[in-house]
Amino acid sequence: MNNIYQNSAENITKAAQIIRQGGLVAFPTETVYGLGANVYDSKAVANIFAAKQRPHFDPLISHVAEIDFLKEYAATDERVFALAKHFWPGPLTFVLRRIEENPSIDLACSGLRTLTVRMPRHPIALALIKASGVPIVAPSANKYQSISPTTAQHVADGLGDKVDMILDGGACSVGVESTIIDLTTDKVVLLRAGGTAKEDIEEFLGEKILISTGNPDMPTAPGQLLRHYAPKHTLRINAEKPELDEFYIGFGKLDGHLNLSPSGSLTEAAENLFAFMRLADAQDKFTKIAMAPIPQNGLGLAINDRIRRASYKS
Ligand code: TXA
Ligand code: MG
Repeated sequence: MNNIYQNSAENITKAAQIIRQGGLVAFPTETVYGLGANVYDSKAVANIFAAKQRPHFDPLISHVAEIDFLKEYAATDERVFALAKHFWPGPLTFVLRRIEENPSIDLACSGLRTLTVRMPRHPIALALIKASGVPIVAPSANKYQSISPTTAQHVADGLGDKVDMILDGGACSVGVESTIIDLTTDKVVLLRAGGTAKEDIEEFLGEKILISTGNPDMPTAPGQLLRHYAPKHTLRINAEKPELDEFYIGFGKLDGHLNLSPSGSLTEAAENLFAFMRLADAQDKFTKIAMAPIPQNGLGLAINDRIRRASYKS
């Protein structure tokens, strides 16, 4: 079944109808493709968990198209709006306290007293949310713990007919998931490194933010699971050069079968990361993957986080 639809006004209208009628639409964001449903429709939200085979204790991000909507959706303060005005639309997600009068989103929030929200930058995502008239909850459109999709075809390969419609917006420009920060206390806490550099948030706030080490058995954020983003082939990281049986993903001057960014750009490396991990995993001639060292600054935090978890052996 081919359920990939090209970007057009008609197809966005059609996708919005599907969302309102309780269906699932995969759509592009600037980070990765999301698997979307109406946040207020518990049955549709349950179908997301089922399609991904994701446990219900792992809450979902609501995607909104307007900053002002936050007032009726979550507990907000000046800091929340200042961050939203500066970083939205874009790859930064906030964990906020819920307002009591919102029981219909219990499932999306996994019953927690917090909710998670971001405004994506991708024009198709924004158009779809506006046309749907509701916040769209969307995890990455892949099976639980596998590599996130950065093209419409990746979504079709992983979820196929479990999705009513896949909107094609080409390859995602950021390529790693959004950065998640907890804004429920005085101190800002980084829960997941992602497409917004930690340094940029610190510069805007004028203070250092804390890094959550999390509890891998009871993750408060997704990526806190030790094994996540899992390829089939074993992955060795910080590899200066490959062994004979390894497909080598290079970076900068360390060239390989593929190179995340010959010029050493972390932005370009993030954009290529998941697609290259899929390509490496699909090689028949190699049974293992090795990856060059990636600097631990800017988007390098997100890249190193993903490849460390992908390389984890239980
Ligand atoms: O870039 C992204 O964030 C993509 C695109 C589609 O927007 N979405 C995404 O969603 O990566 P997902 O579900 O794959 O990862 C979001 C993670 C969840 O695994 C969850 O553990 C964490 O965010 N999360 C959600 N709500 C939370 C909350 N209230 N407290 C702590 N962590 C939360
Ligand atoms: Mg995910």
